[in-house]
Amino acid sequence: MAVSFAAVNLRTMALRSSSKLLRRSSHLLPPIHMQHSAPPLTRKISMDARSIASQLNRSGLLKTQGLIGGKWSDSYDGKTIQVYNPATGESIADVACMGGKETNDAIASAYDAYRSWSKTTAAERSKLLRKWYDLLMAHKEELAQLMTLEQGKPLKEAMGEVNYGAGFIEFSAEEAKRIYGDIIPAPMSDRRLFVLKQPVGVVGAITPWNFPLAMITRKVGPALACGCTVVIKPSELTPLTALAAAELAIQAGIPAGAVNVVMGNAPEIGDALLASPQVRKITFTGSTAVGKKLMAGSAETVKKVSLELGGNAPCIIFDDADIDIAVKGTLAAKYRNSGQTCVCANRILVQEGIYDKFAKALIDAVRNMKVGDGFGEDVVQGPLINEAAVKKVETLLQDATSKGAKVMLGGKRHSLGFTFYEPTVVGDVNSDMRISREEVFGPVAPLLRFKTEEDAIRIANDTNAGLGSYVFTNSIQRSWRVAEALEYGLVGINEGVISTEVAPFGGFKQSGLGREGSKYGMDEYLEIKYVCLGNMKKE
Ligand code: SIN
Repeated sequence: MAVSFAAVNLRTMALRSSSKLLRRSSHLLPPIHMQHSAPPLTRKISMDARSIASQLNRSGLLKTQGLIGGKWSDSYDGKTIQVYNPATGESIADVACMGGKETNDAIASAYDAYRSWSKTTAAERSKLLRKWYDLLMAHKEELAQLMTLEQGKPLKEAMGEVNYGAGFIEFSAEEAKRIYGDIIPAPMSDRRLFVLKQPVGVVGAITPWNFPLAMITRKVGPALACGCTVVIKPSELTPLTALAAAELAIQAGIPAGAVNVVMGNAPEIGDALLASPQVRKITFTGSTAVGKKLMAGSAETVKKVSLELGGNAPCIIFDDADIDIAVKGTLAAKYRNSGQTCVCANRILVQEGIYDKFAKALIDAVRNMKVGDGFGEDVVQGPLINEAAVKKVETLLQDATSKGAKVMLGGKRHSLGFTFYEPTVVGDVNSDMRISREEVFGPVAPLLRFKTEEDAIRIANDTNAGLGSYVFTNSIQRSWRVAEALEYGLVGINEGVISTEVAPFGGFKQSGLGREGSKYGMDEYLEIKYVCLGNMKKE
């Protein structure tokens, strides 16, 4: 059974498809479309992006084709899809719009390459991964520029993502050498029992637009380290960073077919990955709705599945918190990547004794945030990814204010136009409002008042999600109590940015399955094999 993605909101697809970018930019740009004619020999690069693009071109990092079996390839029918700069609405490039056929070839290449890659020594894999890491770091600036161009995040934040993303490759290079098995004391004297860890096989990695590099390296690093090969499907909104990273993997000497990239027609690509018995694992970061479809679609061939899905992160500020630290932490937890991460604080729960003071301090800090094109100086908040993202923010805010919430700062589109949105603080929010129950995925901080620690824990856990959570308190006892009571995979205490390659990232409840990063993330790409060695004597 191949699950059709046609009716599904891949987070990436949802935000692109109904995009008002089409309407808003119709006077500037042709609408997003797939070209049915043969692709131009020189692909189109917009005037505004030209100087950065030509720099990237010189470094060989501006790729617009997919990667199958070590060869850069156009889509077989010549279709392309445009990639836009969300800060200007301009087209950056046309990239190959691939589908089922290309995906099947990519799977075949990955399957072929798996035979030899899975037999390499850990030391060999480690060396190649280390080279890839070195190249990612050597090209940090170009990668960050590409990310800012296609995703919109401020350049400094994009540089941070390169460090973060490359970190997964470095960590995997090190961890490749530590994939240990076990020897089990046998219950009979004539047997010896062993546990071996072996790669799962070909991996389909489906990644979102909000972290165009890190969500790929977080999957591909451990997969390659364990001896798996991969077919990556990056978001159609941000394929350029993924393609540049793949080019650097080739330059590092990672063999042809071990890393493949196909992008374009998400439903077809997804269906091909699910249908193939050769794909033994699906790893996905994106919306909960699509995660469920992938899980269901994986059942037919009983694939292993890792899912990093939506969150609804509570950020709990207790009366005893240090207010400066709480504001600093909340700013980071809420407004990172313009509020577009799965671990962004979605509900700021503030104890009643500190509510007014905290709200005022937060508003003062948020007011100073500079919004603009990610290449601009001192900019800390870029545009949202597209018009659908802005619409979602507007809808949730409108629902909240209609039920009594009060906009304390911002609350509308930014005067810069396009998909820029004002950093917003909204007070008097309660748990019945949609803004408390759905991921805002935008720069809006909803403040909810609570009375007691028990109330805070109850409100925080009253959701199907369970990914990131934050607690601000000066009490050590409370830190432990609350951290243990929260039904979340990640808890930041007096800290707003907790993601790192060395710690396990993943959710409870409907926020997903499995963990990424750290030694725990390696197990997701390994099968456990038990070997019983007998020593039977002939009678
Ligand atoms: C995500 O938004 O999916 C990932 C966020 C992170 O790695 O910090």
